[in-house]
Amino acid sequence: MIILVLSYLFVCFITLLLTKFFYELWWNPIRIQSALSSKGIAGPSYRFYYGNSDDMIRMRKESASRKNYVNWIGPQPQLIITELQLVKEILNNKDEYPKPEFKSFTKKIFGDGLLRARGEKWFRQRKLANHAFHGENLKGMIPAMIASVEMMLERWRQHEGKEIEVNKEFKILTSEIISRTAFGSSHLEGQHIFEMLSRLVLLLSINAYKVRIPGLEKIVKTKDEIESDKLEQDVRDSILKMIRKREEEANQEADKTKKISIDDIVDDSLTWTIFLLAIHTDWQEKARNEILQLFGQENPTSDYLSRLKIMTMIVNESQRLYTPIIALVREIHKGTRLGNLIAPSKMDILIPTLALHHDPEIWGEDVHLFKPERFAEGVAKATKNNIFAFCPFSLGPRNCVGMNFALTEIKIALLMILQRYRFTLSPTYVHSPVILLATCPQKGLPIILQPL
Ligand code: HEM
Repeated sequence: MIILVLSYLFVCFITLLLTKFFYELWWNPIRIQSALSSKGIAGPSYRFYYGNSDDMIRMRKESASRKNYVNWIGPQPQLIITELQLVKEILNNKDEYPKPEFKSFTKKIFGDGLLRARGEKWFRQRKLANHAFHGENLKGMIPAMIASVEMMLERWRQHEGKEIEVNKEFKILTSEIISRTAFGSSHLEGQHIFEMLSRLVLLLSINAYKVRIPGLEKIVKTKDEIESDKLEQDVRDSILKMIRKREEEANQEADKTKKISIDDIVDDSLTWTIFLLAIHTDWQEKARNEILQLFGQENPTSDYLSRLKIMTMIVNESQRLYTPIIALVREIHKGTRLGNLIAPSKMDILIPTLALHHDPEIWGEDVHLFKPERFAEGVAKATKNNIFAFCPFSLGPRNCVGMNFALTEIKIALLMILQRYRFTLSPTYVHSPVILLATCPQKGLPIILQPL
């Protein structure tokens, strides 16, 4: 009898144990997964007992050990290169590794300008652009930049002691600057154009990885393609109208479209620098001290801008952590030798700048921390003589032609803000960086402003 009872108890115990085991390792995860997925929260499926841990371990190992690997965008291979020697080889050789043809959305945003050109056309356009953004020409744009920042700071007076969302402010600022420097007009006049371009950028980011049968888009258009065609036409018409109004040459139109859309990158870059300074108030103080020593309350001049050492370190570190353009794309043709690889077919190469900027082998274990002091002795020292590990503006012959323009704009805005305000992050801030054309804060950047 006792044996029977004990056996019965043992069976009950085992059944209970098994039930608990299956409940915890199978039923409960499946229940959670389906409850979350019914609310639109998706993810890789639960695998019995191991979940996704194996995949995560494998991916971690791979990311630590592999420098180059292949991805598939639909049937199209994309070679990801992070080996610095190869990055250097690719970026230095614009003929062997040209930019690929722009896809339809990108074409609509950037038009037919320098960003896309190749060969002789690129050479001619690049020469003109180099000239436009250098020396006296760039100096000549500084008064327009200062006037635009002054206009912004005038608006900020109503927010003193309160919260202000600065990403929106910087969008207005950079479009004001580009309107003044490119058209001699005000942002308000071109506001509609900026809104249309923002919508185009959003459509681009939604459609970036959509796989379509080649040539089909010419016959059957998706809703987004129809909308983007219309936006492209409207942007062109509006710009032509503005140019005609000023009786300028209508053939400059494509160039201006391109400049406006690129200007989006500058405001996001400025936003992340303000974000980092709002958290790291010690660096905010250091930057302010440097500014007050060099300029006092005076407006900036070009000669003195280059003396802002702390500011340069901060801007570099901000661009390293929140790299605006997260990757560079090139093309490699069948038979081209890249390192020990001979390309088997035409394929895209992707250089993930963001990953290079976050590689602990180069930057150290504190790679994710904001430490502008890494740049105290310049980029070569910060990268242990691997300067291709830091390329927010790219490097080589096709680097950013607007780099000096962008950096001048960012430095002038930072300088004039720091001359007038202390700022901290608002408690309402939600950290959610997303990638549109550049990395931007999805929920904006609210800060609290305190006048000095
Ligand atoms: C913080 C702001 C900016 C960043 C981070 C940035 C970054 C870059 C990068 C990474 C490239 C290389 C793209 C590639 O190879 O695929 C590039 C190219 C270019 N950028 Fe910028 N850019 C900025 C602002 C600007 C501005 C303000 C302008 C003009 C007003 C400009 C004009 C160009 C042009 C025309 C090219 C193509 C150059 C060529 O292919 O020869 N950029 N930029």
